[in-house]
Amino acid sequence: MKIEFLSAPFASASTPILAVFAVDASTSKAKDALPEVRLLADDPVVKAAQAVLDGGEFKADSCETLLIHAPSGLAAQRLLIVGLGKAARLTAHEVRKASGVAVRFAKPRNLRSLAIAAPVADGLDAQLTVRAIAEGAVLADFDSDTYRSDRKDRSVQSLQVVLPPTLDRSAADAGLREGVIVAEAQNFARALINEPGNRLTPTILGQRAAEMAREFGLACEVHSTEKLRELEMGAFLAVAQGSDELPALIVLRYEPDNPPANGPVLGLVGKGITFDTGGISIKPADSMEKMKYDMAGGASMIAAMRAIAQLRPKVRVLAVVCSTENMPSGKAYKPGDVVIAKPAPGKPGKAIEIINTDAEGRLVLADGLTYAKQLGATHLINAATLTGAIGVALGLINAGGFSSDDESWSHFTEGLKISGERFWRMPVEDDYRELIKSSIADIKNTGGRYGGAITAAMFLKEFVDDTPWIHLDIAGVSWIDDAKPWLASGPTGAAVRSIIEWIRTYSA
Ligand code: BES
Ligand code: MN
Ligand code: ZN
Repeated sequence: MKIEFLSAPFASASTPILAVFAVDASTSKAKDALPEVRLLADDPVVKAAQAVLDGGEFKADSCETLLIHAPSGLAAQRLLIVGLGKAARLTAHEVRKASGVAVRFAKPRNLRSLAIAAPVADGLDAQLTVRAIAEGAVLADFDSDTYRSDRKDRSVQSLQVVLPPTLDRSAADAGLREGVIVAEAQNFARALINEPGNRLTPTILGQRAAEMAREFGLACEVHSTEKLRELEMGAFLAVAQGSDELPALIVLRYEPDNPPANGPVLGLVGKGITFDTGGISIKPADSMEKMKYDMAGGASMIAAMRAIAQLRPKVRVLAVVCSTENMPSGKAYKPGDVVIAKPAPGKPGKAIEIINTDAEGRLVLADGLTYAKQLGATHLINAATLTGAIGVALGLINAGGFSSDDESWSHFTEGLKISGERFWRMPVEDDYRELIKSSIADIKNTGGRYGGAITAAMFLKEFVDDTPWIHLDIAGVSWIDDAKPWLASGPTGAAVRSIIEWIRTYSA
């Protein structure tokens, strides 16, 4: 999508469709009160829409749309009004969604170019607003129909962002640049997540990461079984041994231009299970096909590195993605097995009793976290489609966030204000550790029925020790079966934006 600015009156935008935003400015609570819709546009646009708005059919609810054909006095062929909800609660994230709504309105109608009027309103920062428009548009243009032979590519090819004179141009330039980088990274993750298991094996995921690294100037290494043995990654190897596909240990590194001498090194660790059958503790057939998205955490980390390579924050970042299939076979690991995780420096590897081979994510992450520390990470963040239980706990709205360190978590929540994503902090408390005690080994890989997302987090915590750490359980939000007005169904690329912003909070 080509995105450019138009600094001119909104009425002069000569386009098949001009989208403008509107807020609900009503304060009255009376049921029969007429909606008080305020258009975030200049006078000629307000005039063109006035008669329809006076009819009261449009309330400017979040994502609500109203289309006016041949609006009088405007160069645009159509005027699309998109609601942003209550004026008092307006955020840049509403603008991100509304921008997506405009693009997804245009797509099925085969309108390949559109204009969006940048809103100016109380509570909206100029740079974040333009960034949100760009992000919303690029994200909304993605559809996961690449394997349909009846596919009609209806991508929006050009977007004009119409800037009102009061909006600072350099803020707009910065916002556009960031928005495109971040949204393209998120779409890169979505494209990887969308790939089926037969077309994206761990080896291929490694190749895709290496190609990306070459394109954006990151260091990249992709290792397999032999190196895993050398690194004594007994937990990762146990999961990988059941598959005929080779595992891939993907390492990406970003070095800032003038690295601060003793600054932090951020370690991103991702779960990259390219297909999770459950292994010997096999999953039911129902919906098993969706387990191709079990590499979403790994894809998020690779995608975040793609954006970081372009945004160039002043902080060192490395990523470790542990990728394998989880398969049942004559060679597969079994319930009851005891496997030895990668040793941390000066300590023996922890012995893990396998209770359920479907709790494989925490095993590969255990070794990935230890390795990220070995590579010098001072702060850890991991993302994983780790448990079904997180969806039971939080629904499919909020993802789960866990952290042993309030300061890291406050960096993360700083980032959430910009990303607009929703993570709910879950407990990490020693009482829960009791549930993963084993009688024959140091720890077992499941904690029973209750608090499944928390005991999974407690398992990971065993491998981070005192290093500040955040765990993101994105199992409930990485895939949506139903499209949203601003986003296609399928892979969401959840966590990519928040991880990028978390990293940027550490920039010197
Ligand atoms: N990949 C799954 C978790 C998952 C479930 C992701 C649903 C996306 C949607 C994970 O490997 C898994 O199987 N977890 C088990 C853990 C259990 C055996 C303790 C689960 O959630 O049932
Ligand atoms: Mn599993
Ligand atoms: Zn899994």
